[in-house]
This record gives sequence, C-alpha cells and structure tokens, in this order.
Amino acid sequence: MQEKNVAIVTGSARGIGRAIANKLATKGIHVALGDIDPAVVEVGKQISEQTGSKLEGFVVDVKDYNSCSNFYRNVLSAMECDHVDILVNNAGINRDALFVNMTEQQWDEVIKVDLYSVFNCTKQVVPGMIKVNHGRIVNVSSMSWLGNVGQANYSAAKAGVIGFTKTLSKELARYNITVNAVCPGFIDTPMTRAVPENIRQKFLDRIPMRRIGLPEDVANFVSLLVSEEASYVTGEVINISGGMTI
Ligand SMILES: NC(=O)c1ccc[n+]([C@@H]2O[C@H](COP(=O)([O-])OP(=O)(O)OC[C@H]3O[C@@H](n4cnc5c(N)ncnc54)[C@H](O)[C@@H]3O)[C@@H](O)[C@H]2O)c1
Repeated sequence: MQEKNVAIVTGSARGIGRAIANKLATKGIHVALGDIDPAVVEVGKQISEQTGSKLEGFVVDVKDYNSCSNFYRNVLSAMECDHVDILVNNAGINRDALFVNMTEQQWDEVIKVDLYSVFNCTKQVVPGMIKVNHGRIVNVSSMSWLGNVGQANYSAAKAGVIGFTKTLSKELARYNITVNAVCPGFIDTPMTRAVPENIRQKFLDRIPMRRIGLPEDVANFVSLLVSEEASYVTGEVINISGGMTI
C-alpha cells in the first residue's frame, strides 16, 4: 500500500459528504473532495488547515463519465499516488414529485446524478484497487430505496445503488475490496432543510431516538466501514437512522 491512504469523497462541498471528508482527514487519510459546486476547493483548504491532512477539492460533474475520468487523473496527480484506497460515492440530489406530475427531466436528472454517478466513479478506481489487492467502496443510498411517495425517481436510483453494491461486492471480494451501502434516515443537511417544517416534524415523530441525525452520525459509520476493522464486511446495506424504519 502507498504510504498514506487516499480517499475520494463525492458531493463533499457540504452536508454528509463534507462531514465524511472531515472525519477521514482526522484519521490522517488524504482526501480528494469532488463536487459540482466550486466551493469544494475552499472546503478542501479549510479542512486541511483544521486537520493537518492533505486535502484537495476538485470540480466534477459525477453524472458525466468524462468529467469523472478527468477528476480521477487529476486526483492521482495532485495526491502523488497511483491508485486510491477508498471511494465514497456520496453525491446525490432529489427532485421530488408525485409520479403523475413527474417530468422526464426530473426523472433523468436524479437517475443520472444518483445512479450513473456510482458507475462513473467506481469505474475509475477499481482497476487500481485490484492491482494492490485492497480497497474500500461505500455507496450512500437512502432508506427511500424501499419506496417513498413522491420519490419514484430517487427510490429507483437508490435501489439501483443497492443492486450495484451487492453485485460488485461479490465480484471484488477476491481482491480484498469491500463494497457496502449506507442508508441515512433523516439527516440535517441542506437537502433536508429544504423540506417543509410540517414534514420535518412528521419525520421526527417517526424516529425512535427522537432527534434528527447529524452528518457526523453518517460520517462516523462510514469511517468504520473503510477501516481495517471492517475488512470482513462486504455487500451489506446499513441504515443510519436512529431506529427509524420506512
Ligand atoms: N440528508 C438526508 O437525510 C439523506 C437521507 C438519505 C440519503 N441521503 C443521501 O446522502 C447523500 C448526501 O446528501 P446530503 O443531504 O448531504 O445532500 P446535500 O444536498 O446537502 O449535498 C449533496 C452534495 O452533492 C453535490 N452534487 C450534486 N450534484 C452533483 C453532481 N452532478 N456532481 C457532483 N456533485 C454533485 C452538491 O453540490 C452537494 O454539495 C446523497 O446521496 C443523498 O441522497 C441524504
């Protein structure tokens, strides 16, 4: 293995992705942050100053295969490495609407950002992981994969992520590459802050722990999944939801 572990975290300019990048950095892992929002560059600098780890932010559109190939090349060069050890496919969006009102654009955008992205980014890192016979891939799905009113597009994409995770875990286990999915419940991020207050309250009522999750709750668990301690865990789908079920 190269001297330092190197991780890619997508969708890390804010929210859950940013918390994951921060957590990995506190463990001394070098982190490449990728996001469509150019603010990611500054976020990388800030976390680097706070943790002393090497971090760098890159602008990437994860729904675009060529953008992901360029991103990966730039990461290898900036991090002075020949592979990455960890990939966290976290970038995601929602465009909620009842199916009868859902536009083709809403469908397309969510499927591309939430599902194609996982193929686009994973495709970059796997050959390098196979070469070193080691790797960690964590896909951020959602409990909505089980079905949620107003989220036919999002549920389909997030269910696709789980099928992808399970298949890849079987294909890559022989190379000591683990592939797992996490399903956050209701986590306090810009994505959920857009939800109307009455709906937020309804979610809160359904959470046995009686609090909305924090991005750090997800980050702490992802940090465990990418550690050596989790080397025999693969193909799993873990809810991080304070006990909430769908
Ligand atoms: N917040 C929750 O309660 C919750 C629950 C379940 C699952 N999730 C999942 O967790 C992940 C992170 O969600 P969040 O709540 O932090 O969302 P967020 O909206 O706060 O952050 C998402 C990040 O992804 C980036 N992004 C969007 N489109 C992109 C693209 N095309 N290319 C690159 N980056 C792009 C955004 O710029 C943003 O920085 C998502 O996959 C989401 O579906 C969130």
